Amino acid sequence: MVTQHCFLRLVAICFHSAIILSTTEANQCGTGFYRVPNMTCVDDNECDGSQDSSNARCGVNTECYNTVGSFYCTCKKGYSNQAGKANFTTMTNCHDVNECLDAEKACGPHSSCTNTEGYFFCTCEEGFVSTNGEPSYIDKMETRCQDLALLVPSASSLENISQFADLSFASLSKFQQRNSTEYHKLISNFLVVMEKYTIQAARNLQHEQRKNDSTSNFEVVMQAIRNNTIPKDGRVKLATAKNSMVIGWNTVAGKKSFDVAAAALISYKQLDSLMATSLSGDGSKETELDLISEVVTAAVTNTDTKNLDEPVNLTFENKKYHNGTVKCVSWDNTTYTWSAYGCKVNSTNRTYTVCSCTHLSSFAVLMALHEIKESDSYNLHLITTVGIILSLICLFVSILTFILCRSIRSIRTTIHTHLCVSLFLAEFLFLIGISWTANKTGCALVAGFLHYLFLACFAWMLLEGVQLYLMVVKVFNAKSLRSKYMLLFGYGFPLLVVGISAVAYSRGYGTDKYCWLDLTSGFVWAFLTPVCIIILVNAGFFIITVWRLVDKFASLNPDMNELKKIRAFTFTAIAQLCLLGCTWVFGMLHFQEGTIAMAYIFTIVNSLQGAFIFILHCLFNKQVRDEYIKFFISVCHMQKASKYSEFSTSSTQGLKSTRETGM
Ligand SMILES: *[C@@H]1O[C@H](CO)[C@@H](O)[C@H](O)[C@H]1NC(C)=O
Ligand SMILES: *[C@@H]1O[C@H](CO)[C@@H](O)[C@H](O)[C@H]1NC(C)=O
Ligand SMILES: *[C@@H]1O[C@H](CO)[C@@H](O)[C@H](O)[C@H]1NC(C)=O
Ligand SMILES: *[C@@H]1O[C@H](CO)[C@@H](O)[C@H](O)[C@H]1NC(C)=O
Ligand SMILES: *[C@@H]1O[C@H](CO)[C@@H](O)[C@H](O)[C@H]1NC(C)=O
Ligand SMILES: *[C@@H]1O[C@H](CO)[C@@H](O)[C@H](O)[C@H]1NC(C)=O
Ligand SMILES: *[C@@H]1O[C@H](CO)[C@@H](O)[C@H](O)[C@H]1NC(C)=O
Repeated sequence: MVTQHCFLRLVAICFHSAIILSTTEANQCGTGFYRVPNMTCVDDNECDGSQDSSNARCGVNTECYNTVGSFYCTCKKGYSNQAGKANFTTMTNCHDVNECLDAEKACGPHSSCTNTEGYFFCTCEEGFVSTNGEPSYIDKMETRCQDLALLVPSASSLENISQFADLSFASLSKFQQRNSTEYHKLISNFLVVMEKYTIQAARNLQHEQRKNDSTSNFEVVMQAIRNNTIPKDGRVKLATAKNSMVIGWNTVAGKKSFDVAAAALISYKQLDSLMATSLSGDGSKETELDLISEVVTAAVTNTDTKNLDEPVNLTFENKKYHNGTVKCVSWDNTTYTWSAYGCKVNSTNRTYTVCSCTHLSSFAVLMALHEIKESDSYNLHLITTVGIILSLICLFVSILTFILCRSIRSIRTTIHTHLCVSLFLAEFLFLIGISWTANKTGCALVAGFLHYLFLACFAWMLLEGVQLYLMVVKVFNAKSLRSKYMLLFGYGFPLLVVGISAVAYSRGYGTDKYCWLDLTSGFVWAFLTPVCIIILVNAGFFIITVWRLVDKFASLNPDMNELKKIRAFTFTAIAQLCLLGCTWVFGMLHFQEGTIAMAYIFTIVNSLQGAFIFILHCLFNKQVRDEYIKFFISVCHMQKASKYSEFSTSSTQGLKSTRETGM
């Protein structure tokens, strides 16, 4: 019993002393430590890892780090505090750092920097593409923005080409200004690079081996032949899901003997949506166009594909049903627009369009949304035809008058005769030949002759200005131009201009719509420039002439008759300059603006030129009017008396008439 009691006491004492011991030891654990039941002091984790505790201990947007016996705080990545301290232990809130204040430093050149809360990212400018291939990047050490125009696949394998296409597409689709030349240049560049690398890939194929591939952005099919062997059939059909191409192997190879000849057809799945705004193809904004097929590129090893002997045939599946006029177009890498040059529609129905082209490039099918309304184009055609026929008649009568009426024979009349003959031929050729587009050479010839004849009109008009100037300035006894030199200038100068133009850019003569100078390439300036110069020079001559005339009228002893005559001549010449000059000013506006109103004005004025000239030189001229009256009287006499009366005898009487012309 006693021993049992003793044992219990002992335990109680031990227990008691243990508690005393433990409390003293607990007091010896320093701050930042706490005692665990097995009686050692362990580190107190002030930062338990949660955001709340870090906010409570350190402040907003901080990280809390525990150390043995203590802790410290830092701002989170992308944040800083006002004191700029990296390590701190007191409550300090941290704020977002705007890394983009120095965007160049944060992202590198040609990029834009976007700051977000605690974070930033970089994107490349329009026309640049990040080297990591992603839309944005953070690390400017590893990633840069690279000029899209200089981007090429790293090798001519389909994988690399596909990578290149993805990058280019991502970058092109970010462009805002889709109708800028810069953008169209990038598209051009993209198409050229795709063509070049694809054909390089195709060169590696075995004889008659065919390869298809489809990536996210394009589909390609290619085939090669080797060892100078052309398959029996002589042509190859390459087809992607929606488009196909038939081309002769001779066209593909381009030369008699070859080691390898390859052809490839690339169909772009989305490029049409990126190119839909580059449709200013034919200079008139009135015709709004829409791309209704995929864009395809036809690539061959032959390098001379400007003018193929046998046309290549392309079949497009129409992406949109069409009810309007379709056009086959190719991408022009020099003007960066779609061009209808060298392509025609073979056949078209709701689902397919077959195009036939005499050159190779990238192609598509366009649909006209609103063409010049049928009634308008019909009206314009009617006006032109009627106006020109009227003009031709008037010019013919004028020419007859100038030749037959001796009373008005003078150097001026000679000039008028040449002018009218040029204009007569020009309008006649215009009437029959302007839309003679079926024959390319013929069309170019018509365009060349029209260019020549219209220029000749202006050359003769300049001669008239010079002649008037001489009459006034060189004091009446008309030191007139020698007719030899006049002929040389009147017909030689236009020949010179046409010759130079034809040598420099013969392609500019004749387009697929009309036989006139090409407007899209600006070749029409080969006509408009000399015309503008002549108008300006002539205007100069007229100003001097009028000025001298005014002087002469004011002089002491003016020869009134002669002066009044010259004054009338001058006004006629000025009116004529305005007439012909204005026609082409309207013409220029018409070509530039392409509005319906302009089309009407230009067509009317242009087709009535001959009639105006007749009115100006014949009907407004009293002498000529008198001649006409005499002529009609004599005709009546002739009929009445059935007596022969000579026109010229009556006209010799007119010679004596010194009455000045009526104006
Ligand atoms: C005491 O317990 C802690 C955890 O509770 C352990 O890490 C430590 O090793 C223990 N010490 C001894 C001496 O058993
Ligand atoms: C902050 O303190 C930690 C721990 O003492 C240390 O490792 C770190 O280098 C310090 N940072 C700065 C910027 O002083
Ligand atoms: C591009 O198109 C917009 C509207 O579609 C137009 O305002 C702008 O003038 C065009 N720019 C060029 C260079 O054609
Ligand atoms: C190339 O063709 C010739 C005859 O057409 C043939 O003898 C030769 O073996 C061919 N060479 C190769 C590499 O196929
Ligand atoms: C394309 O079609 C035209 C007219 O249908 C034909 O003359 C020409 O030979 C064809 N070209 C090819 C390569 O089949
Ligand atoms: C084609 O159809 C559209 C509507 O689908 C219509 O607005 C347009 O006038 C039509 N064009 C022609 C030439 O019929
Ligand atoms: C449309 O034209 C294509 C190619 O010429 C032809 O294969 C197809 O049968 C035509 N479809 C219809 C509905 O006429």
